[in-house]
Amino acid sequence: MEFTAVACNLLTKKTDCLVISLGYQVTDNMPEKSSVLEAIDNATSGLISRLIKSGDLKQELNSSVLINEPQGLAADRLLLLGTGSKTLNEQSFVTLAKNIAGQLTKQPIKTACISLAGLEVDSRDDHWQAQHLANQVAQSGYLFNPFKSKEKKPTTLKQITLALPSRKGLDKSKIHLNLGNAIANGVNLSRELGDLPGNICTPSYLANQAKKIAKKHPKLSCKVLDEKQMKALGMGSLLSVTAGTVQPAKLIVLEYKRGKKNDKPVVLVGKGVTFDSGGISLKPGAAMDEMKYDMCGAASVLGTFTALTEADLPINVVGIIPAVENMPSGKATKPGDIVKSMSGQTIEILNTDAEGRLILCDALTYAGRYKPKAVLDIATLTGACVMALGSHATGMLSNNDELAASLETAGQISADRVWRLPLWNEYDKQLKSNFADMANIGGRHAGTITAACFLGRFTKDYHWAHLDIAGTAWNSGANKGATGRPVSLLVQFLVEQL
Ligand code: BES
Ligand code: MN
Ligand code: ZN
Repeated sequence: MEFTAVACNLLTKKTDCLVISLGYQVTDNMPEKSSVLEAIDNATSGLISRLIKSGDLKQELNSSVLINEPQGLAADRLLLLGTGSKTLNEQSFVTLAKNIAGQLTKQPIKTACISLAGLEVDSRDDHWQAQHLANQVAQSGYLFNPFKSKEKKPTTLKQITLALPSRKGLDKSKIHLNLGNAIANGVNLSRELGDLPGNICTPSYLANQAKKIAKKHPKLSCKVLDEKQMKALGMGSLLSVTAGTVQPAKLIVLEYKRGKKNDKPVVLVGKGVTFDSGGISLKPGAAMDEMKYDMCGAASVLGTFTALTEADLPINVVGIIPAVENMPSGKATKPGDIVKSMSGQTIEILNTDAEGRLILCDALTYAGRYKPKAVLDIATLTGACVMALGSHATGMLSNNDELAASLETAGQISADRVWRLPLWNEYDKQLKSNFADMANIGGRHAGTITAACFLGRFTKDYHWAHLDIAGTAWNSGANKGATGRPVSLLVQFLVEQL
């Protein structure tokens, strides 16, 4: 899709669909019209007033009316949307943008012109609105088609114009529209990788995808380490997880050097378990298919690199993806087995289903090589996080308050929010093992925190935050599918570093 911004006269604008948000302010039940709305109302001989009076168009967030061939306008269609109130918060603006996007992509149209005049979002400017509008419209073009014999048709929507009241801020709006579009392309790639089944999306498949992304930008390179190379590095913990499968494990490393030569990179580490059966500590059968999503952390890293390179952001970022399949077999790791990590610390594996931390710890040690400014790991790590925060917030734990605060801010701006949990020493004690330096599980209590405490033993040399996306990376039930979270959060966080 293509996005642009113009200052134009909406009445004479030729487009397949003109989109106007209501932006009414209710004072004593008397609606107060914005100037754009008033102009459209006058040009259409009071169409909007009549629709409101008849109750067809409500001042509610999800109310909308589509008019074909509106009299008095040059546009072929007029889409009117209720906004509920004049001032929205971030989440309700995203809901509105999703609604606009959904209506546009399902119509047989190629072009659309959108005016958000008169709409205000609490403590956010018009550029923020432009970025999120483009993000949602481009996201709604997502289609997952490869396995249905009867294909769904892709949207015909190609060109979206944001109409501004004046030329002021036009260039900056275009930058934000393009950033929103780039983020959406990253989100959609991340969703596709998540939705692909485990028999297609293997560790080798992820490695090939990473190489493909790296070809698209001269400053992005990719190398893939095989099991022999990981063994030479001493990654005994990571390799213990892949012992039971026939799929070869891969350590994928992406280096994006578009910043200043001496600027330390931010390192993103994504959990890439392409299927998590639990291993010998086998999971119950119900919903086990959803463990194909256990590589969504990896997918979010690949999606973030897609967005970064498309927007050509001038920054240094490294991506590290430990990719494995967790399966039971005669060669699989058993409860009670003890392994040695790359850091030299030994681990008693009491539950082979707590495998994410076993691959991440070696990847986090490897991350130390880059003398990073900060390391973020992204992982579908614990069912406990789904219990604690549900699907609305990603769990966040960090050894640095400043880093945690900037992730919280990026979460607000991106509407892809995180909630911090404590990483206190008292929790860490739950990892005690009688036979090794630590156990890989910390008992029934505070499972998300003890998982992070485990990782915290490998991240002492740098500023680090852990993002547990078990509740946010995909939807279950009728709308089963990957969400592409937290690509928006990660890109926004990186933008804030510029
Ligand atoms: N991939 C799972 C976490 C998960 C479970 C995410 C359910 C989303 C939904 C992870 O590898 C796992 O199995 N974690 C265990 C840890 C336990 C054995 C300490 C869990 O959460 O049950
Ligand atoms: Mn598991
Ligand atoms: Zn897992």
